[in-house]
Amino acid sequence: MVAGFVSSFGLQSQRGRPMVRKRTRLDMAVGILFSTTTGNTSNVADLIKQNIGTECKDPIDVGDISSAADYADCTGFIVGAPTWNTDADEDRSGTPMDEFINDGIEKLNLSGKPVAIFGLGDSVGYGDNFCDAIEELHDKFSSQGAKMVGYTDEGNYSHSSSKSAKNGKFLGLPLDEDNESDMTEARVKSWCSQLKGEMSL
Ligand SMILES: Cc1cc2nc3c(=O)[nH]c(=O)nc-3n(C[C@H](O)[C@H](O)[C@H](O)COP(=O)(O)O)c2cc1C
Repeated sequence: MVAGFVSSFGLQSQRGRPMVRKRTRLDMAVGILFSTTTGNTSNVADLIKQNIGTECKDPIDVGDISSAADYADCTGFIVGAPTWNTDADEDRSGTPMDEFINDGIEKLNLSGKPVAIFGLGDSVGYGDNFCDAIEELHDKFSSQGAKMVGYTDEGNYSHSSSKSAKNGKFLGLPLDEDNESDMTEARVKSWCSQLKGEMSL
């Protein structure tokens, strides 16, 4: 009788070879990571999940993540945060995302993975610093070797200035639930179509 092999999943190989569990679609999916104070970014994360579908895991609040390494298998990331720390150079979000991008993302195994950023802000009340946190997130993920995608046209917004806009493009998708909530659904839908192409979903 051929000796069986007990794999780490408790399975017995008939030919003495270790049995490797096949990766499921969920293992391979894109992760949606967000943070929020009053709930707007969380709602948009849900909308993104609805638009992308099974290619994405359910959104997770980074404040609830005990180990970022649990997400290292994701094939890419869609990351969102609001801006609360007006005109700050660092910690612009003012949410747990500030800590996560300084202590956590290195465990996500980001090298070569596509990453897209979205941000929530107020283009009227804080029109000089509209969605400034997008740039900080963008640069942190980029410095970890991620391939940044999901840039959008700056001309579609009515802000005065933003650290997150470069050469006419935002480094992600800004959204304004305070003044332009009626535009959010269409903006998210269009961005998700863009991401399906850029992230090969
Ligand atoms: C005290 C305060 C500071 C804010 N600072 C900014 C800012 O600098 N830039 C910006 O675009 N929005 C700013 N906002 C608007 C919030 O980012 C916006 O309401 C956002 O939708 C909140 O998202 P959340 O519900 O996910 O926390 C600020 C709002 C408040 C009340």
